[in-house]
Amino acid sequence: MKVIQVDAERSYSVFIDTNWKDSLQDLFEGRERVAVFFSESMKMSIPQFECGDTEFFYFPVPDSEGAKSAKVLMQVWDWLGAAGFTRTDLIIGIGGGAVTDFSGFAAASWLRGLDWVAVPTTVAGMVDAAVGGKTGINSDYGKNLIGAFHSPIAVIVDSRWLETLSDRDFAAGLAEVVKTGFISDTKILEIMDGKSLSEIRQSSALTIELVERSIAVKAKVVSGDFKESFDREILNYGHTFGHAVELHSKYALRHGESVSIGLVFIAELLFELGLIDSDLVKMHRRLLENLNLPVSYKDGVWPDLLAHMRMDKKSRGNVLRFVGITGIGKTQRVEAPPESALLKAYERVSK
Ligand SMILES: NC(=O)c1ccc[n+]([C@@H]2O[C@H](COP(=O)([O-])OP(=O)(O)OC[C@H]3O[C@@H](n4cnc5c(N)ncnc54)[C@H](O)[C@@H]3O)[C@@H](O)[C@H]2O)c1
Repeated sequence: MKVIQVDAERSYSVFIDTNWKDSLQDLFEGRERVAVFFSESMKMSIPQFECGDTEFFYFPVPDSEGAKSAKVLMQVWDWLGAAGFTRTDLIIGIGGGAVTDFSGFAAASWLRGLDWVAVPTTVAGMVDAAVGGKTGINSDYGKNLIGAFHSPIAVIVDSRWLETLSDRDFAAGLAEVVKTGFISDTKILEIMDGKSLSEIRQSSALTIELVERSIAVKAKVVSGDFKESFDREILNYGHTFGHAVELHSKYALRHGESVSIGLVFIAELLFELGLIDSDLVKMHRRLLENLNLPVSYKDGVWPDLLAHMRMDKKSRGNVLRFVGITGIGKTQRVEAPPESALLKAYERVSK
């Protein structure tokens, strides 16, 4: 087992490559009540926990984004109220990023903040959603618009969950790993370069190393800037165009698939601005294509995508802002790039 420490708002450990049930057991000690949230589709994997006099409550929530709604949250508040949850009780969220985002927000909002533990079961959940304390639900006006920063007391990463994950979800999660490589960890890129999705999947040692390296970067970044006032923005490399595509596709694309397209877009833009060379652009494409991830988006209309990018939270007024790199691990903000460069980058990801 490996432990990575996060020091943001509170200090907590991310336990990696551990037996999730054993690790949870230690956290139940002394709790009167524990609420276990999980998606309905995963109920077969949820055991009946036991620990002294602790009472366990099992709250299945709808799968995926279906969980992240005000309606489900209101239902859960009723359950917590009826079960008499107090400040010293505990919430556990077991599932993909959607379930951990939801569970964290339920914990943040009930009695202004209960302890909670994230048990991520997808690659995206392990390397991104469960670490960092951003919790929330969706509104009719957009994704993740309602939420709170509320750190978990622990994150428990057991890679055996990934055995049942679809290739599509596995690859989508790896897009964030590739992103992490470009912004901060060249070793990630060395490990992945030349490897196919199945080669990575088949080696649990490789998978664990990639997950661990990505968590280490995220832990360091969020420890330095918990509420995303500045440095945390680097985690959004590839996300400005990625979010635009995700929104435009009406979420038909997975988040990681959209990020994959966004990574190629930003690489092409940086090349156009003279900030990186063509070899680095090719490296973006090669790594993502090897994972069977999409690297182009043909269904878009440039003005629509541009309008979506202007709504990105990094943009200020009408000024477009991107996270860029000038080399592997060297991040730099890119503000108000010329429209001609944006258009050229768009042309290269839309054919
Ligand atoms: N809080 C953050 O900082 C942060 C960061 C990134 C993403 N997110 C959020 O995370 C969510 C995306 O997370 P995701 O990619 O994990 O998607 P997801 O939670 O929707 O899960 C994807 C699918 O995988 C299934 N699944 C989960 N674990 C499985 C397993 N072990 N075996 C088989 N199937 C399994 C789920 O039931 C679901 O159908 C989005 O809501 C996004 O907004 C949050």
